[in-house]
Amino acid sequence: MAQHYPVLLAESLEYLNVRPDGLYLDCTTGLGGHTAAIAERLTQGGKLIACDRDGQSLEMARRNTGAWADRIIYQQSSFSQLDFTGLDGLIADLGVSRYQLTNPERGFSFQAEGPLDMRMDQTRGMTAADLLNHSAEKAIADWLHQLGEERRARKIAGAIVRARPIRSTLHLAGVVERAAPRTGPLHPATRTFMALRMVVNREQEELDTLLRNAPGMMKPGGRIVIISFMSLEDRKVKESFREWARDGRATILTKKPVTPGEREVRENPPSRSAKLRAVAITERG
Ligand SMILES: C[S@@+](CC[C@H](N)C(=O)[O-])C[C@H]1O[C@@H](n2cnc3c(N)ncnc32)[C@H](O)[C@@H]1O
Repeated sequence: MAQHYPVLLAESLEYLNVRPDGLYLDCTTGLGGHTAAIAERLTQGGKLIACDRDGQSLEMARRNTGAWADRIIYQQSSFSQLDFTGLDGLIADLGVSRYQLTNPERGFSFQAEGPLDMRMDQTRGMTAADLLNHSAEKAIADWLHQLGEERRARKIAGAIVRARPIRSTLHLAGVVERAAPRTGPLHPATRTFMALRMVVNREQEELDTLLRNAPGMMKPGGRIVIISFMSLEDRKVKESFREWARDGRATILTKKPVTPGEREVRENPPSRSAKLRAVAITERG
C-alpha cells in the first residue's frame, strides 16, 4: 500500500485498545489502512468486520489486507445498514478517501474531467448531475450555504441553473469559477463540490444514524473511535459523546480532539484537518 497513509493510525489503535481475541468493526474500510493495522493485532480468535459502502474500495481493501483474510469479514454496507452487537471496538474514519477524490471516473474532483457522479455506492441513488439538473435553485443554494458554508451560494446556484444541463465535473467547475471568481488560495469550486458530495451521499443523515446506533452495538467497556475532517461532523460527534457521558452510557477518553502531529501533516498534508474523538462504553453491573 505505497503512498497510503491511514490518518492518526497509532492514535486510533491506542484508543481502540485492540484485544487479540476481540470483535471489531471498521465502518469505513476505504483501501484498508486502519483495517490492516487492526487485523494485524488479532489472533485467529479475533474478528474484524470491514465495511464500506463503496464496492470498488472494498475490493481494493480485500487485496490490500489479504494477509489477514482469515480474521476479516468484508461487507458492503453504509452506516445506516450496520446491525451488529457485542463489539469490542468500532472505528469510523469519515468522508471520502484519496482514491475516491483523485479518481476522475468517480466524479469527486474539480481538477479532472469525469462524469459528475460522486456516489460512494455506485449501485444506488442519484448522481450529483441528476441532483443539480433536477433540483430547484433555492434547494441548491441552501446546500451550498449550509453544507459547504459557501458565501456566494445564491450566485453560484443561479449560474448552475442557467447552465443546465450540467454535464461533467469540469463543466460544473467552470460554471462556478465564472460565477464566483477566485479570491483566495482555495479553488472557487471547492465548497460547491464538497456540499454536493455531502448531499449525494446523505453524509449528515448517515452520521446521525451511526451515532444513534453505535452505543447499542457495543459490549460494556467497548471503544468507539471517530475521525472527522469537517467541523460540522466533529460537532455532531462531540455532542453525541457528551450526551452519552451525561446519560452514563460512556466515558469520554479524549477531552479535546486528538489531531495529527507535525510529522504526519508533513508526510500527509490532507491529514491536517483530522480530529479524533473516542469513548469507552460504560461497564454495567
Ligand atoms: C477517509 S476514507 C477511509 C480510509 C480508510 N480508513 C483507510 O485507511 O483506507 C472514508 C471511507 O468511508 C466510506 N464511507 C463514507 N461514508 C460512509 C457511509 N455512510 N457508510 C459506509 N461507508 C462510508 C467511503 O466510501 C470511504 O471509503
